Amino acid sequence: MIDLCLKNCKLVPENGNCSIGIENGKIVSITKIPPKSEKLIDIKGNPVLPGLIDSHVHFRDPGLTYKEDFKTGSLAAAAGGFTTVMDMPNTKPQTNTKKAFLEKLEIARKKSIVDFKLHAGINDLEQIRPVAELNPASFKIFMDLYDNSFLMEAFKQISKLPQKQIITVHAEDKNITNYCTRMEKNRMIEVPEIYAKARPPVSEVIAVSAVIALGGFYDQKLHICHVSTKKSLQLINHAKISGQNITSEISPHHLFLDNSYFHKCGNFVKTNPPIRDDENKLDMSCLKEIDIIGTDHAPHTVEEKKRNVWESLPGIPNLETALPLLLTRVNENKIGFKDIKRLLCRGPAEIFNLSNKGKIEEGMDADFVILDMKKEYVINPDDFKTKAKYSPFEGFKVKGTPIMTIVRGKVVMENGEFFENKGKLVSEHHKK
Ligand code: DOR
Ligand code: ZN
Ligand code: ZN
Repeated sequence: MIDLCLKNCKLVPENGNCSIGIENGKIVSITKIPPKSEKLIDIKGNPVLPGLIDSHVHFRDPGLTYKEDFKTGSLAAAAGGFTTVMDMPNTKPQTNTKKAFLEKLEIARKKSIVDFKLHAGINDLEQIRPVAELNPASFKIFMDLYDNSFLMEAFKQISKLPQKQIITVHAEDKNITNYCTRMEKNRMIEVPEIYAKARPPVSEVIAVSAVIALGGFYDQKLHICHVSTKKSLQLINHAKISGQNITSEISPHHLFLDNSYFHKCGNFVKTNPPIRDDENKLDMSCLKEIDIIGTDHAPHTVEEKKRNVWESLPGIPNLETALPLLLTRVNENKIGFKDIKRLLCRGPAEIFNLSNKGKIEEGMDADFVILDMKKEYVINPDDFKTKAKYSPFEGFKVKGTPIMTIVRGKVVMENGEFFENKGKLVSEHHKK
């Protein structure tokens, strides 16, 4: 007798109706006839996807927990159908020492209801080796904050580590963003639109080409976060075709919004890199050339967002809107379930070496999101579990939503109700 059976699952896009047997948090069988189990959940023919994996969240814990903490962030993840999150290092203190990394792990173990990994930051080059031993999801580099000399040193060291590491990259050039920001501030025109000029497309393009050069020179695996321009994506894909180890990520706001949203929702759409104009922006037609979607869930308070264009803090909470927005496109036949599985399940699992996640197969972790593809509603930030009750997607009509989220066989969300769970650090088998 096994622990749990999910019966009447509709595996998409395969269409097969089946039962999934679960024991000790793992998938042990996928069969037509439900196996005998202690607990039985009737999925009633609803579509079932592997639990989503978000390789890019900012949970603000420790130090900035008035914006978000690992509990509320992981609730937002569960609400949005995500069963694994990878937290970024720009907390207080930053996750760039062994001590800070271990402290954040403790916090996540105590508070998270979904599984997690942590990205590491870099400040003190001496800390790279001890932090690498703790198996970070990646080392994150914010190119808008570092000089080339520091980037060179960091690449030199990380590429020489005994266990291969990934460098994830926020690609905006420090000199160009500083220069353009100064220029725009001098013009004294304080409208939200101006922010896109202070951090122009060319700043990303220069940073992407520089980091491709560094990655190539040091033979270092790269993952480029929140790609926001066509030119950058071309550069990445060209490098990839030439044999370089490089992957790309897009965030929901760069996929679904354009610069007209500065006018529609002011600084609520302010984010780094900024939303682009039609000439530069990526859209749904580019999805096939992109490896994954990362939400870049970056919560702030409404007060912090409502300041003037220069003082307002950049970042958008995306965990609870990403999947419904994508399911709406599935309902419109613009994308398929297979795209969602590639971009949010299998893709991130492969890039970040989560060998037990991202697929519904025997032996994998029993992480699932169950969907209601008929449910229609209007996005309202007051309904969010994140502390950040704002969204540039407010008022968007969506059709399709997660109704149940299961982490290693444990239901953590059902129809908007949440249940306790001890999220686990995703351990991995050795990296290639
Ligand atoms: O808009 C952003 N917000 N971009 C970043 O790179 C950081 C993030 C944050 O932490 O708020
Ligand atoms: Zn970033
Ligand atoms: Zn980010």
